[in-house]
Amino acid sequence: MSALNGKSSRIQGFHKLSHEEKVKIIRDFSNLTDDDIVLLEKWGMMESKVAETMIENVISAMSYPYAIAPNFRINGRDYLVPMVIEEPSVVAAASNAARLMREGEGIISFSGEQIMIGQVHLAGVANPEYKALEVLEKRKEIIEIANSTDQTLASLGGGAKDVEVRVLSTEKGKVLTVHLIVNVLDAMGANAVNTMCERVAPLLEELTGGRAVLRILSNLADRRLVRVRGQVKAEDLGGREVAEKIELASAIAFADPYRAATHNKGIMNGVIAVALATGQDHRAIEAGAHAYASRTGRYLPLSRWDMTPEGDLVGTLEMPLAVGTVGGTVRVHPMAKLSLKILGVNSAKELAEVMGAVGLAQNLAALRALVSEGIQRGHMKLHAKSLAVMAGATYEEAEKLAELMEKEGNVSYKRAKDLLENMRKEKLH
Ligand code: MEV
Repeated sequence: MSALNGKSSRIQGFHKLSHEEKVKIIRDFSNLTDDDIVLLEKWGMMESKVAETMIENVISAMSYPYAIAPNFRINGRDYLVPMVIEEPSVVAAASNAARLMREGEGIISFSGEQIMIGQVHLAGVANPEYKALEVLEKRKEIIEIANSTDQTLASLGGGAKDVEVRVLSTEKGKVLTVHLIVNVLDAMGANAVNTMCERVAPLLEELTGGRAVLRILSNLADRRLVRVRGQVKAEDLGGREVAEKIELASAIAFADPYRAATHNKGIMNGVIAVALATGQDHRAIEAGAHAYASRTGRYLPLSRWDMTPEGDLVGTLEMPLAVGTVGGTVRVHPMAKLSLKILGVNSAKELAEVMGAVGLAQNLAALRALVSEGIQRGHMKLHAKSLAVMAGATYEEAEKLAELMEKEGNVSYKRAKDLLENMRKEKLH
């Protein structure tokens, strides 16, 4: 089947072609211009050899804005937080909320041992409840085999620590599920845990007479939670009324999954921005967060806000965070390494604590804006600027146009175009 342009995207052995050959194919397929090729060749500031150690079929790299949110005080320590995100206002909002939450103890964030769960799903097991107990009796042997895959991890005090069993009733019959409980220390842990699952599967098949259908970690990392708390004075928020409205907004999120999803999105704005800057598997973090938010069978907010008897506002957040400071992207991506250096974190535990704290601060900032001036005002300046650029303005002109449009209260593409035309005409005279 060929594409609308009459060209086929079925390209045998694409991955084996040289970079030049790949680019030529894409150029022909998508009618790229010389300028497009120049952009591709800039590699978004990433060296091709770095990109090529990360994924397949690489032809270029793409940059996102990289920002620093100051003001964070977490567990008594000050942090400058690198954030990578495309959305206006998020970084400013995080910095503002971090400033408000600095007072007193600052933000307190705690994550425990970095425990991941590996799963082996065994189908076709006769008497799975009975076999489950036999599996548990072989716990020691299973753990030993799992730990033989990563002796460094085990020698540092990590590795497989326990075995658990569950019998699932699926629409295709019963499935015996074996969980490996693994302390992954400072790694995100996917590689270590997946290897362990694959390595123990033959023994589990032998023990149960079943077939190991799936052998992979669970992204519902509910043994790897971060718990964050923070406090802010009502007067710093703009008064008791604002604090009460934030408390109400939190209650609404608990009563309404439609709102809870948006409430949690605000948290993830902060969490994922730090995840991107530090080279984390952000899809794993998202999957874990939303699965955890639904753990009761109902989708709930990951944080809540309440008033103290003195009239201040206290917030708490609890979510899984599977992150790493060794291995994976962190090992190869120079910007991820640099982000960890700027943060000055020394462990996955600390990184998770920082990310959770950013999530709570981001959430507070969003709720404060929502219950007072609304969210759009903060977005407007950058939005106006990007409309001006879309209308053909240079970056210098865009700055001026954004200011004019904001002053007029008329921020639109059409207005940007008209103003730009006038501005250029005036310059000619
Ligand atoms: C926008 O990116 C995030 C918010 O929608 C979060 C929220 O509604 O709480 C503002």
